[in-house]
Amino acid sequence: MTQQEEIPLRKIDHVRFFVGNARQSAYFYRNAYGFDVVAYAGLETRVRNEAGYVLRQGGITFVLQSPLRANHPDASRLILHGDGVADIALSVDDVRRSWNLAIERGAVGVIGPKTIEDEHGVYEYATIRAYGDTTHTFVNRDRYHGVFAPGYDAIDPSRYNPATYHPAGLLAIDHIVGNVEEGRMNEWVDFYRNVLGFSQLVSFDDQDISTEYSALMSKVVQGGAGRIKFPINEPARGRRRSQIEEYIDFYGGAGVQHIALATNDIVSTVRAMKANDVSFLRVPPTYYENLRERIGDIREDFNDLAELGILVDRDDEGYMLQIFTKPVQDRPTLFFEIIQRVGSRSFGKGNFKALFEAIEREQAVRGTL
Ligand code: FE2
Repeated sequence: MTQQEEIPLRKIDHVRFFVGNARQSAYFYRNAYGFDVVAYAGLETRVRNEAGYVLRQGGITFVLQSPLRANHPDASRLILHGDGVADIALSVDDVRRSWNLAIERGAVGVIGPKTIEDEHGVYEYATIRAYGDTTHTFVNRDRYHGVFAPGYDAIDPSRYNPATYHPAGLLAIDHIVGNVEEGRMNEWVDFYRNVLGFSQLVSFDDQDISTEYSALMSKVVQGGAGRIKFPINEPARGRRRSQIEEYIDFYGGAGVQHIALATNDIVSTVRAMKANDVSFLRVPPTYYENLRERIGDIREDFNDLAELGILVDRDDEGYMLQIFTKPVQDRPTLFFEIIQRVGSRSFGKGNFKALFEAIEREQAVRGTL
């Protein structure tokens, strides 16, 4: 199949989470992850059926949204999925053209191109389906000068105390990983290639990353001149239940597994987040034995990495440091990765085995292995 011309995507505009209690989630992402709460939509801004909070840190924008009544069209999604990512919005030059191209190439439409005008200007968007109940919204805000989007006002300055706001040094979204059902990875890789014109980067098969119990297969697609990277995982047969199956079981289908957030100083970022009680996965101390011999010289202090549980991987372009949080809700579903790249563009393949074993220890505690 020939490579499709890429729909001109600029970058990830924002990630929208649908959650049970947006007000409390905003408190969590502000006080634990270091996001600033910048905008609000709800009854006080004449939005009748849902509440929304817009959070920013570096170039990252999260939107946390909750229904206010049972008759909200997405209310049942909370029973099915729990809290999770509903939409990954992509900034585009031309919403109508992006939508038309995507639909022509087989995307399923959710919301056709819409232009909303308010006192702050013109906001344009359109939405297509992605894996599971996840969607992609094409957004253009070139002619919009409000704080986020129509319906949102700047946050009431009396809501949060500026003295308690401490950014954690998170700068950008590095990649967003989707878990899809067994046997459907290639279908979704083809969706990104054929509909959005993404290119495929690298693939891991279960030989690369199987542990005694669980295995997965993963392929990475990228678009927006490399600024948008979406690894797609599917479960592979292991002796027992894989972490991907566990996710799909508890999430009620395919969905976003983790969002990797980039920092330039992972040691400070993780130290700050730990001080705020963010829980991270830990690999065994043996991981740090002979690490210097395996990895070579790096700028960071190996003692800091071992103390905080930060992992390192090297390839021919450089190295990368990474660490994973535990799931951020009671369901073992969405979690976050904190990543610092020093040349390397990889996803930490060298760490997969140690990590999966760490995840499986958590699964064993949950009784889901
Ligand atoms: Fe990742």
